[in-house]
Amino acid sequence: MKESLLVDKYGRQLNYLRLSVTDRCNFRCYYCMPEEGIDFAKRKDLMTFDEMLQLSTIFCNLGISKIRITGGEPFVRHGIMPFLHQLSGVEGLQEITVTSNGTLSARYQAELLSMGIRKINISLDSLDAQRFHYITRRDSFDSVYNGVFRLLDAGFDVKLNCVVADNKNIQDIIPFIELTKNYPLSVRFLEEMPFNGSDGTQVLSSWDYKKIYHYISEHYTDINRLISDANSTSVNYKISGYQGSFGIIPSFSRTFCGTCNRIRLSATGELRTCLYGPPVTNLRNLLRKGASVADTGQEILNAVALRQRDGYAAEALSNNSVNTSMSALGG
Ligand code: 5AD
Ligand code: SF4
Repeated sequence: MKESLLVDKYGRQLNYLRLSVTDRCNFRCYYCMPEEGIDFAKRKDLMTFDEMLQLSTIFCNLGISKIRITGGEPFVRHGIMPFLHQLSGVEGLQEITVTSNGTLSARYQAELLSMGIRKINISLDSLDAQRFHYITRRDSFDSVYNGVFRLLDAGFDVKLNCVVADNKNIQDIIPFIELTKNYPLSVRFLEEMPFNGSDGTQVLSSWDYKKIYHYISEHYTDINRLISDANSTSVNYKISGYQGSFGIIPSFSRTFCGTCNRIRLSATGELRTCLYGPPVTNLRNLLRKGASVADTGQEILNAVALRQRDGYAAEALSNNSVNTSMSALGG
């Protein structure tokens, strides 16, 4: 791995930027936002693609080598494809990946592949159309589900993200793993996090990573632990003989902070060095005030220097009475 200048005081090198290109979404997943949506950013407050490109270039100069495009739903933002073309030319950037809810990604698959984007994470929480509707408040199961296979056929490396919760999709856990029998998919089960745009009084799912693993282990006798990347947030497994794999992401328990290599930029320019912490600075404001490349780079280095040890320490700095939606944080 290329050395990154973005090193925090605990010695973690950051080389992975998660860039949210919009806070809007055509879904209303219960764990992300209320039915009526959130207070979406005004157009003038969104970074322009030009601003995103300028900042991405600065990040890559400092040592970022991978950018994940997230939202909201990235493909609802007009102009996303030309932006991705430009982004793919940024020096030092080795990989672009995308997280999508899968409603629109199939439409763009050939174009994505043509720019070398071949890793895509699709949020899919149920294999049952009715439960899918209950979870997303939208009736798009067929298009998302069929889209997954179209992506696989086209040669994408597809991961499915599945937020596990009581009374929502427990009965889908085993069918998801069974889907990995004949398809080279990776299904990742996530703990529910509190980023749902609500007042914080909601009861979160009791399904933590231990409970998820225990449940799965009662159904299979031949689970093999896989060796994962050092910075992986998921602990990964494979059932003997299955083509694909599955993983569990302790997104709420936060056992992976010690090796976290990520930094996040929201669609309105807020920079976060931890998902659980408050924004440390706003880079859009800085650019609009006419900051130089050097000053902007220094601001990013300063933010990284203040990075907290883990998601619990970062959370202690937030005093939000409303839980910011994942859609506004940048998924
Ligand atoms: N808890 C856990 N995962 C969440 N996501 C969005 N909101 C939450 C939450 N509150 C996940 C989605 C998507 C990814 C961007 O983040 O499932 O796959
Ligand atoms: Fe949209 Fe993803 Fe939020 Fe669901 S979780 S509402 S798909 S941004």
